[in-house]
Amino acid sequence: MKNNTNFILPSQTSARKRTKNISAIERDLFVIDDKIKGIGNGRTYFVRTYGCQANFHDSETISGILEDLGYTKSDDIEKADLILLNTCAIRRNAEEKVLGEIGNLKKLKRNDPDKIIAMSGCMAQEEEMVTHILSKYPQVDLIFGTHNIYNLPKLLYHALLNKEKTVEVYSKEGDIVEALPVKRDNHHKAWVNISYGCDKFCSYCIVPYTRGKERSRHIEDILDEVRSLKDEGYKEITLLGQNVNSYGLDLRLDYGFSDLLREVAETGLDRIRFMTPYPSNFDDETIDVCARYKNIMPSIHLPLQSGNDEILFKMNRRYNSEEYRILFDKLKNKIDDCAFTTDIIVGFPNESDEAFDDTLKMVDHCKYDNAYTFIYSKREGTPAAKIEDHIDMKVKEERLQILNAKIAEYANMHNQKYQDQTTEVLVDGPSKKDKDVFAGYNPQGKLVNFTGHDIKEGDIIKVKITKAKSFSLDGEAIED
Ligand code: 5AD
Ligand code: SF4
Repeated sequence: MKNNTNFILPSQTSARKRTKNISAIERDLFVIDDKIKGIGNGRTYFVRTYGCQANFHDSETISGILEDLGYTKSDDIEKADLILLNTCAIRRNAEEKVLGEIGNLKKLKRNDPDKIIAMSGCMAQEEEMVTHILSKYPQVDLIFGTHNIYNLPKLLYHALLNKEKTVEVYSKEGDIVEALPVKRDNHHKAWVNISYGCDKFCSYCIVPYTRGKERSRHIEDILDEVRSLKDEGYKEITLLGQNVNSYGLDLRLDYGFSDLLREVAETGLDRIRFMTPYPSNFDDETIDVCARYKNIMPSIHLPLQSGNDEILFKMNRRYNSEEYRILFDKLKNKIDDCAFTTDIIVGFPNESDEAFDDTLKMVDHCKYDNAYTFIYSKREGTPAAKIEDHIDMKVKEERLQILNAKIAEYANMHNQKYQDQTTEVLVDGPSKKDKDVFAGYNPQGKLVNFTGHDIKEGDIIKVKITKAKSFSLDGEAIED
């Protein structure tokens, strides 16, 4: 392979910039030049995705582009002609997994130098990471960023046919690229982006640098996509954005998330979810819409991060514990039978025992159905990375255990309410462990494993719960 020809490297300084410009909507950026058409014919690809839903949905777009180029999907990483790792940078351990995987690919590349090894996603947006990969992992042929997906045909052409190591990572605020092909993994549940990027700049978080400025898709683009999914037979959609409920602010229209959610609900789709709301942007109109439309699922993910005001302030979260509690109570009172999940970080720099206790107190108040809990991970280039931390890792690990034990207790408490009750399940298909057992989710987002006859993926059926466990429910389908 030749070196150093097609290199646009990321820059954290540019990634931090924000202007007041309204992002451009690009509808004609995705083109496959004649010389590139069919470069995937007879070739296979393998994609491994790390991280959040936004990344999984990006992988569906990448798969759509590769299939337009003639590639066929393969589940065999060893045999695939193109291996792509779509990466996550949210915590150090996510990155270590990817680096380990890239290390493992060295042998495959040595045995088959024509194989293309590509990396995309949030790690590709990190300046130091890309330099590290270029110097330590020569087996990587192609690196492209979250803003460069539309250009994959050209980048692949350089890497594959010109045999040039290729890196293209823009760090600009970001446009909105429409009209990209998508190959969805699931035929009854779909993700729909409503906005990209994040402007919140929580002090610990790398996302505002890796995904650019917060920018909303046009209303009609979203509604058209939702309507087509419904026509294609999809039963459930999840509206995606880093902060769904600041949807529309950048468009400066008198139209916000509550309006969008109402219009999506009025399409009559069976099930609607959204991910992720930001507490202080959750307005009363949105709560009313959630309460009014029965096809908006009663399951809300409301990231807490910490229950302590000083830590929340240092995290640059724009609410305090009292405001969070008031919002939580309002949601709980207004939306019938709603389940709540959250994200919590323990061990933010210099978090005291008292501050951690405040988090536990908030968990006791909210009694979440489940939570994603993390030990703070230092992300270079973020403001929190500059704080000198005096808390021992052992203390942080102990806190995580204490927190997780509490979360499991409440998860179990909520699930016990389903014992001998009937709940409605959207069937995902046979469970991974046993093909006579089916799996799916109920409206509250609980995983249900159940037995039954004549059941198809995508059915919505009633299931009687026979055994409630902490993190899943077992049951039997009720035959009509
Ligand atoms: N360390 C630990 N957890 C983090 N998160 C984001 N950044 C970090 C970090 N540096 C968590 C937050 C967020 C979730 C997606 O990941 O809880 O809500
Ligand atoms: Fe990260 Fe905060 Fe934006 Fe969420 S809201 S993506 S935690 S910066």
